[in-house]
Amino acid sequence: MSESINREALKKLSYGLYIVSSILDGKKNGQLANTVFQVTSEPPQVAISLSKNNLTHEYVEKSGIFSVSILSESTPFAFIGLFGFRSGRVIDKFEKTGHKFGISGCPIVIENAVSAIEARVVKKIDNGSHTLFIGEIINAEIFGNDRAMTYSFYQENLKGKTPKDSPTFIPLME
Ligand SMILES: Cc1cc2nc3c(=O)[nH]c(=O)nc-3n(C[C@H](O)[C@H](O)[C@H](O)COP(=O)(O)O)c2cc1C
Repeated sequence: MSESINREALKKLSYGLYIVSSILDGKKNGQLANTVFQVTSEPPQVAISLSKNNLTHEYVEKSGIFSVSILSESTPFAFIGLFGFRSGRVIDKFEKTGHKFGISGCPIVIENAVSAIEARVVKKIDNGSHTLFIGEIINAEIFGNDRAMTYSFYQENLKGKTPKDSPTFIPLME
């Protein structure tokens, strides 16, 4: 079956680039994610796909709340590296990152963000390596007028790679 799956075809899917954040026992954490999308309009709901290996997964699972910060095109690669290639298990990513707390108590990254959403988990789907969390949006706000970063902009202009915990990671050997 798998030889009929041309991974180049999957690369044609479009995404944005986001920081998904949560909090547990007063400890903040966040991670880069490209798999975020709105699933319904009424009520407004958003889905995120998080690797079970990630600390953010544990925080979202246990707290039931998360925020999504939509990154600007001008986000520097160092910022993406901090949230996308390092784990909160070894570094406090919020120590030097501009943020605030939302109405749910969830941290919201405002540095390099054009807007943000805050959501409460209403459903979880176990997809093996990743969990799809569906959240009902409880708050959303705009921070600026910069263009939001797309995944293709990241790949073309920042020559960005995708690590294995991303749902859209492409294995070299199949
Ligand atoms: C471009 C890019 C996109 C990513 N997208 C996702 C994603 O959608 N879901 C996911 O679970 N991890 C994704 N990751 C990987 C996480 O950001 C990474 O594993 C992070 O270090 C996890 O941090 P944590 O352990 O502090 O939660 C992505 C990474 C990059 C660089």
